[in-house]
Amino acid sequence: MLTPTPKPLATIDAGDLFAAHEVERYDMHSRHLNAQMVRVLKTIGFDVGFCRGAGAYLYDRDDVRYLDLLSGFGVFAVGRNHPAIRESLKSVLDAELPNLVQMDVSTLAGLLAERLLAKVPYLQRAFFANSGAEAVEAAIKFARAATGRQGIVFCDHAFHGLTYGALSLTGDEIFRKGFEPLLPDCRRIPFNDLAALEEALRRRDIAAFIVEPIQGKGVNVPDDHYLKDAAALCRRHGTLFVADEVQTGLGRTGRFLAVEHWGVEPDMVLLAKALSGGHVPVGAVLTRDEVFSKVFDRMDRAVVHGSTFGKNDLAMAAGIATLEVIEAEKLVENADRLGTRLIAALKAMIPRHEMLSEVRGKGLMIGVEFAAPQSLKLKAAWHLLETANKGLFCQLITIPLFKQHKIMAQVAGHGSHTIKLLPSLVLSENDCTWIETAFDTVIADSHKVPGAVWSLGKTLLENARR
Ligand SMILES: Cc1ncc(COP(=O)(O)O)c(C=O)c1O
Repeated sequence: MLTPTPKPLATIDAGDLFAAHEVERYDMHSRHLNAQMVRVLKTIGFDVGFCRGAGAYLYDRDDVRYLDLLSGFGVFAVGRNHPAIRESLKSVLDAELPNLVQMDVSTLAGLLAERLLAKVPYLQRAFFANSGAEAVEAAIKFARAATGRQGIVFCDHAFHGLTYGALSLTGDEIFRKGFEPLLPDCRRIPFNDLAALEEALRRRDIAAFIVEPIQGKGVNVPDDHYLKDAAALCRRHGTLFVADEVQTGLGRTGRFLAVEHWGVEPDMVLLAKALSGGHVPVGAVLTRDEVFSKVFDRMDRAVVHGSTFGKNDLAMAAGIATLEVIEAEKLVENADRLGTRLIAALKAMIPRHEMLSEVRGKGLMIGVEFAAPQSLKLKAAWHLLETANKGLFCQLITIPLFKQHKIMAQVAGHGSHTIKLLPSLVLSENDCTWIETAFDTVIADSHKVPGAVWSLGKTLLENARR
């Protein structure tokens, strides 16, 4: 009897699947995933159905181009769908590599570690994880093991991720509420406050001070001496100084690491986001020999911390290709140059617009802050809106930016009056002109009462009450 030949397996073409089902995305999410997210998108009118991404841009169903100032929360530093990253990922699949053998060590991880550590000559070891939060979890464990202490100090308004350890170091109540109790012995101090840090370290029971060089929530930039003095205080008290560069790292602020602005050499540097090339989740901890020798101190503890997918070939190749692109396209320099231009241009708008109070940041991590107006008409409108829902004013800026100017920007945190610019580092001078014109126009419109912007405010208020 003849054995029937098996039917060839149909390959899943993700592009075809996407094209056939993208119109159902909001319904599918409402049905099977996070329905509240769909409500948010529909309320603010961001439900345009993006169909394509390239460089710093997104394209909707009608192929309208949007300038993306979120870059996937900072993931797309090298731009969306960079050809060099795509080719390097395809090459991993084509090479049929012996991925994740587990009882071997990864060649690509060795290469990525070597390249990353060359950027921080004061550190000698790398550990790879699958996300920013996982890098933070590793840092907490490594610091405790290395120092024999339990305490971790973190800052008000910090954001280090949403897994339990990382959440325990995240300052905003909105993320913590409903999930407590969190990890014990985590102590919160104000950001940019050296006296508070010294007081927290005094008892010598703190394993690590973990801090974002520039805080992502609010784009809070420290005083010039803060990080350097904080690192010195930590060293004096036997505490590890951990720089969470998950968002600020890899060129975002116009330096490869943000700590380089202030000449600081941390005991640990945490990376993630941009290292993925926008394609494969990854996290990294760079640290000292001494830390590793305390954590992985015997043969039977060789796997005492790790994760099944850590160091997978696709992530490692994405990381190596990302570093290559950053260097070849001089993206750190581009972030520095265009960031300086944008910050200066946005600052120059302050005298023209009463409610525009401050512009701050470094490189392409920029915060544009608004504050309550003084003039009577505006004051009444602002208070009506802000009493009902703190931070709602910023939506009066982000919605017209999106609808009228095709710019996608975010509010820099819950209840915040700061809009954050976190574009891809491949931004061009023309993109900067696009941003400057759009912000100037929308901010000017928000100062007209009555006007279209405040009518939008009324609609948002009505929606919020529903
Ligand atoms: C500074 C910082 N640390 C950690 C994280 C957590 O990273 P992930 O979302 O990859 O877990 C983030 C994410 O936004 C971050 O900005």
